[in-house]
Amino acid sequence: MCHEGGCGSCIVAVTSKNAFTKETSTYAVNSCLVRVYACHGWAIKTIEGLGNRKMGYNALQTQLAHLNGTQCGYCSPGMVMNMYSLKNDKDITMQEVENSFGGNICRCTGYRPILQAFKSMAIDAPPQLKNKVQDIEELCKRNICPMSGKKYSGSCSDYDYDDADASDDNGEEDFVHVNMDGAEIIQSSKHSSIHINLKDAHWIKVTKMNEVFEIFDKIGYAPYVLVGGNTARGVYRPTMEPQIYIDVQDIPELKSYVTEPTLTLGGNVSLTDCIKLFNSLSKKKSNYAYTAVLARHIDLIANVPVRNVGTIAGNLSIKHEHPEFPSDMFLILVTVGATLTIASKTFLYQDVSMLDYLDMDMKHKVIKSITLPKMDDSYSLKTYKIMPRAQNAHAYVNAGFLFQIRKSDNGRILRKPTIVYGGINPYFVHAHDTENYLEGKNLFDFKTFKTALRILDKELKPDQVLPDASPIFRRKLASALFYKFVLSLSPPGLPARVASGGKDLVRPLSSGKHLFDTDKSEWPLTQPVPKLEALAQCSGEAEYVNDLPAIPGEAYAAFVLTSEGQGYISNIDPSEALKIPGVLKFLCAEDIPGLNSFTPLKPAFEENEEVFCSGNVKYAGQPLGLIVAETQILALHAVTKVNVEYSNVSSPQLNMRHIISSGDKTRIRVEKEPDAAEKDVPDRNEVTHVIKGSFDIGGQYHFTMETQQCICVPIEDGMDVYPSTQWMDLTQVGIAQALAIPENSINVKVRRIGGGYGSKISRNSLVSVACALAAQILNRPVRLIMSLESNMEAIGKRCDAAVNYEVGTDNDGKVQYLKADFYENAGASWNEKTVPDSVSFMKSCYDSSNWKVKGYSVRSDIPSTTWCRGPGSTEGTATIEHIMHHIAKVVKKDPVEVRLNNMSVDDNATPQMVKDLIVSADYNARKESIDEFNKNNRWTKRGIALVPLKYGLEYEANYSALVSIYAGDGTVAVTHGGIECGQGINTKVAQAVAYTLGIDLELVRVKTSNNLTAPNNKSTGGSITSELCTYAAVQCCKELLKRMEPAKKGLKNPAWPQWVQAAYHQNIDLCATHMYPYNDDVKAYNIFGATVCEVEVDLLTGQYQILRVDIVEDAGKSMSPEIDIGQVEGAFVMGLGYWLTEYLLYDPETGKLLTNRTWNYKPPGAKDIPVDFRIQLRRNAPNPFGVLRSKATGEPPLCMSCSVLFALRYALDSAHEEAGKPDEWYQMDLPATVEHVFLASLTNINLFTF
Ligand SMILES: Cc1cc2nc3c(=O)[nH]c(=O)nc-3n(C[C@H](O)[C@H](O)[C@H](O)COP(=O)(O)OP(=O)(O)OC[C@H]3O[C@@H](n4cnc5c(N)ncnc54)[C@H](O)[C@@H]3O)c2cc1C
Ligand code: FES
Ligand code: FES
Repeated sequence: MCHEGGCGSCIVAVTSKNAFTKETSTYAVNSCLVRVYACHGWAIKTIEGLGNRKMGYNALQTQLAHLNGTQCGYCSPGMVMNMYSLKNDKDITMQEVENSFGGNICRCTGYRPILQAFKSMAIDAPPQLKNKVQDIEELCKRNICPMSGKKYSGSCSDYDYDDADASDDNGEEDFVHVNMDGAEIIQSSKHSSIHINLKDAHWIKVTKMNEVFEIFDKIGYAPYVLVGGNTARGVYRPTMEPQIYIDVQDIPELKSYVTEPTLTLGGNVSLTDCIKLFNSLSKKKSNYAYTAVLARHIDLIANVPVRNVGTIAGNLSIKHEHPEFPSDMFLILVTVGATLTIASKTFLYQDVSMLDYLDMDMKHKVIKSITLPKMDDSYSLKTYKIMPRAQNAHAYVNAGFLFQIRKSDNGRILRKPTIVYGGINPYFVHAHDTENYLEGKNLFDFKTFKTALRILDKELKPDQVLPDASPIFRRKLASALFYKFVLSLSPPGLPARVASGGKDLVRPLSSGKHLFDTDKSEWPLTQPVPKLEALAQCSGEAEYVNDLPAIPGEAYAAFVLTSEGQGYISNIDPSEALKIPGVLKFLCAEDIPGLNSFTPLKPAFEENEEVFCSGNVKYAGQPLGLIVAETQILALHAVTKVNVEYSNVSSPQLNMRHIISSGDKTRIRVEKEPDAAEKDVPDRNEVTHVIKGSFDIGGQYHFTMETQQCICVPIEDGMDVYPSTQWMDLTQVGIAQALAIPENSINVKVRRIGGGYGSKISRNSLVSVACALAAQILNRPVRLIMSLESNMEAIGKRCDAAVNYEVGTDNDGKVQYLKADFYENAGASWNEKTVPDSVSFMKSCYDSSNWKVKGYSVRSDIPSTTWCRGPGSTEGTATIEHIMHHIAKVVKKDPVEVRLNNMSVDDNATPQMVKDLIVSADYNARKESIDEFNKNNRWTKRGIALVPLKYGLEYEANYSALVSIYAGDGTVAVTHGGIECGQGINTKVAQAVAYTLGIDLELVRVKTSNNLTAPNNKSTGGSITSELCTYAAVQCCKELLKRMEPAKKGLKNPAWPQWVQAAYHQNIDLCATHMYPYNDDVKAYNIFGATVCEVEVDLLTGQYQILRVDIVEDAGKSMSPEIDIGQVEGAFVMGLGYWLTEYLLYDPETGKLLTNRTWNYKPPGAKDIPVDFRIQLRRNAPNPFGVLRSKATGEPPLCMSCSVLFALRYALDSAHEEAGKPDEWYQMDLPATVEHVFLASLTNINLFTF
C-alpha cells in the first residue's frame, strides 16, 4: 500500500543463509522494498503458501481469525507473515510478540485482538489465553465452525506446514532462471557473481569485496547504488534510478563481526543482527556492557522487517547524503566514539571518525566496517529517541550522552564528555560549547549544571522545516533530555520525586477484558462468532479490487495532480509523458463526453465537483488529468513528466480561523440556526460564572489500508465496474452522467473493501469515474490504483473544526445558558457538510434546553472534506465535553460532577451508566492514587477522565437484500446493498438469516454486493447499514417462510432440506427481496456509553502512554458480540489517533499536503493502544426499537475517545501546579502530539532542579 516499509501490508517471510555466519534463518521483509533480483538464493513464503482452504490453514491464520483479529482484513496477511517469521518454530515471549508489530498498521481492530491472538502462541502466555482459542473452538463445536463452514471436526487446522528451506547456495549449483521482460543474464551460474542486464540498468550481485572495486573501475561516472537491504528508498524516494545496482548482501566481509581485539562489525550487518549481537555481547564482555544501551536504541529504529534487511552502512549513507536525516545509527555511533573503516580499493582502507565520514567524498567507496571502543564502567551512557508514536517513527530529537564521571566526587567529569543531538539542524552533531565547558567540572554541582544548561540552550539552534516539529519544542526538548540524563545518574541528595524524572516510561504488556451478554436460545444470533470471511482474510484468499487478476489488454491509470492551490491552468503539455514507450494516453477535462463531475446533483450533492480541473484550481492535489499506460509504474512515472503551466497563482486560504476572522461571506455560510424552540427559551438566571473559550480540532486522514481504487472492464453492453466504494449507486450514476451512457449499462460489483471509514462513500466516485472514462476511450480494461501520496493529497478527509463559546453557569457548574458558533471546514466545495450533525450531537446526554448553537461551513482551499467515521458526532461530542471540562475548572468541581449536574432527564441511561462505571472502573480510588502519584513525582504525571455519551441514531436510508434458497441442498445465499468494509455486516446478516430461517449458520453464504439486486441503495455508513441490511434480509426470510408454509402440509416435522424440496416441487418462488425504506417499522433510538481513561505523561519528553481504558457501550442485544467489541475497540483507537498523533499539515505557500506518507503521518501503532483495555457491552439492555433488539456500534465509541484529552489535561494540571501556575484553564493545541503535550507541560530549563 505505502511502498515505503511503513504499513506492513506486504510482509512475506524470507529464509536465507547469512553470508558470514552461514546460518539459515527465516525473517520478515517488506516485499515493497525488496527488488526481485535481490531474492537470489532466498526461499520466500507468502501468505498463500502458508495455508488455505484447499491445503488447510496454518495455526497462525486460524488463531488470528478465531480471536477476531480481522475486520477489513487488508492488514491480516501482513500480520500473519510477520508473526510467522517471528515464531518460526522458536520459543517467543509475549513481550517479543508485542514488540514486533510496530511496522504493521491496522486501522480497523485497534490491535488488541491481533496481539492477543499472537501472544496466545508465546511460551509465557497465561493458560487462560492459551485456552481462549480452545474455548472458541468449543463454542464452534456446539454448532458449526463458522470459519470452515463445516460441521466442527475437532480442529480448525490440521494442516502441518513445512518450513521452506533456503537453497543450499554453495556457489556451485546452476541457479539462474531469470525470465523477465527485457532481462538477460550475461554471466551466471559457475561464477559467484551474477550480472543481470536489464533494459536500462545492470544488476550485479557480488560476493567479494574486490568485485565491487572492479565494477567501480569499469563504470566510470555512471550512477550506481550499493544494495544492502534496499530500504533507504522508504525514507527518501529516489529522484532517479541508478544505472548500476551492486548487490552487496552476499559479501561475507560486509556481514561479518569480530569481538576481539575490538568489536568490529561489517558495514552491511543488518540492524536486527546488530541488536542480537549487542544484546549477547553486553552480557558476556564487561567492556561492551554498554552495547545493551545501543541495542535498545536500535530497537526503536524503523520496524522489524526493515531492520531485518536494513544495514548499518545503508543507514549511515542516508545521513551522508541527507545531513538533515536524524539517523539513529549515526547518533549512537558518534556518541560512543565509533570509527568507520572506508575501503576505496581492494586493501586500501582508511579509518575515519563518524564526523569525518560525513565530509568524505564517498564515490566509489565502501563502508567496510564499524569499530566500537571498549569502555569500562566509569562511563555513563544514555541515548534517547523522542518520536511521535511508540514505534516506527523517526525522531523529533534524538540524543546521546557519554560521560566518564566519578560519581563519588560530586560527579567529576574525567574527560571531555560527549553530548550529541539529531533533529536540531543538518549540521548540528555535538553540543561543543557545553562539552567544552563541562570538561573537568563537577556535574552534580548545581551551579555548574545550570550554567551548562544555559550554554546548551544557547548553542541549540533548531531549524524550521515543515512538516517537522517546531524549533522551540526541539530546543526545549533537547535541554530536557540533558536534564533527564543527569537525573538518571542520581546526583546525591536527589529527592525521590525528582529522581523519578530520570526514568523512562515503562510500558507493561497490554491486555484486554470483555464482558457481554449472549442468549444461547437465539444462537447463532447473539452468538460470539468470528467473522465469516476471517479465515479467507488471514490466508490472502479474500479478494479486494486489486486482487482481481490482470485482464488481457488491461491498462493502468494514474492521476496528474495540481501543484498549486489557487490559480488558473493556462496550459497542460503531456507530450514528454506521451513520448515514453508504453504510455498510451493522457486524458483531461476536455475528454469527458458528459458531465465533468463525480458528485452529480442527483443523487445527493449540492455542488458538482470536477473529475478533472477544467481551469480554476480549487486546491493543490486536485486531479487535472489521467495518464494511461501499459504498466502502473510507467503510469506513475509518466505523471511526473506532464508539464502544467499556471497563471494568476495566489496563496491558498488554508487556515479556518483566518477565514472566519476575514468575515468573507463567499467562504462562510450558516448551515444551522438554533431552531425556533431553542431561540425562545430564556436563559436561566443563576449565572455566577461566565466562561468564554474556543476549541479547535484538526482534520484526519482516513488511512484505509486499501487506497481508493477501481477496475473498469468494457463489455458487450456496457461496462463492468469494480470499485472500492461504499456507495454503489453513486458510482453508477457518476459514471453514467460523466460518460453520457445509460445507467443500465453499468454493472457495479463490490466484494469487500479494505477499510472505508467514510472515505469511500463519495470520494471513490472520483476514481471510478476517471477509470471508466479511460476504459471507455481506450476500449480496454483499465485499473486505477491510487498511490498513497496521491490518495492523501487528492482525497478529502475529516473536516477540521473551530468553536467559540460562551457559557453562563451557577456554582455547581449547571449551565444557565450556552451560546456557541460551530465552524467546520468544508474544503473546496459545500458538499457533505457535517456541521448540522455536529451541532446536534453536541447535545449528547446533556440538558440542552437553554443552548443556542449556530453551525457554519467554511470554504477553504483544501480538498473538499468528507465523512469520516463518526462525522459530526465526534466533533460535536468532543466540543461539549471540552466545554464541560472548562466549566469544571472554573467552578472548581470534579468534571464528573459537573457532567452529572448537566445531564438531561429524558430517555437518558447515561447518568446511571456513569455511576455504575465509577464503581466498576474504581474511578474514585484510582483518582486518589493518581493524586498521590502526582505528589510523589515531579516529572511524571498521571491523569484520569470520564466521558459520557448519548448518541442519537436515526435511520434515513434505503437498503435492499435478496435471499435465495437452493432446493438441491437447502443452502442459502444472500446479497445486500451494504458494503463489507470490515464492520462485519456479512456476518451479522448471515447470523440473522440463519436465526430467522431456523437453520445452521453454515448453510448461509453472503455474496458480492451489486447494483443489479441492490439498485438505488444508499451508501454504507453512519453505523446503520449492518442493521438495515440485516432487517431487509430478515424480511426476505419471513416472506420466504410465509411462502413455504403450505409446503409443510403433509410433512411431519420436516428437516430443512426436505421442507425446501417440498416447496420446490410446489413451484414456490424461493427467492425474495426486500428494501428497507424510511417508513419501515424500526425507529430512531439513542445509544448510551461511558468511558474512563487514565494516562501517564513524561514531562521531560512529552511522551505519554494510556494506562487503562474502561468503556461501557450500549449495543442493545448485540447480534454478534465479538464483532461489536471489535467495533468498539477499533473506533476508540482510531479516535486516539485523531486526538493524539495524526497531524495534517499543508504547505502555506502552495497548499500541498506535507504530511502525505507513512513517514510523516502517524496513525496509532500496536504499542500506542491502552495498556489495559476493558470493554463491556451494556448488559440486559435490549433495544425495543432497533433491528432484532440490537444497536449500532461502529461510531459511538469514537466519540468517547476524546476522554484521553481530558485525562492528559488532568496530568498537565499537576505539571502547571509544579510550574507555579494558578489552577486555571489553559488552551492546549490539538492533536495532543508529543510536541503539544510537552509544550503544554510548561517544561523549561528554569524548572530543572536537583
Ligand atoms: C519505514 C522505515 C522507517 C525507518 N525509521 C528509521 C528511524 O527511525 N531511524 C533511523 O535512523 N533510520 C530509519 N530508517 C532508515 C533505515 O535504518 C535504513 O533504511 C536502513 O538502515 C538502510 O539500510 P539498507 O541496507 O537497506 O540501505 P540501502 O537502501 O540498501 O542503501 C542505502 C544507501 O546506502 C549505500 N550503501 C549501502 N551499503 C553500503 C556500504 N557498505 N558502503 C557504502 N555505501 C553503502 C547505498 O549505495 C545507498 O546509497 C527507516 C527506514 C524505513 C524504510
Ligand atoms: S510496507 Fe510495503 S506496502 Fe506498506
Ligand atoms: S483489519 Fe487491519 S486494517 Fe482493516
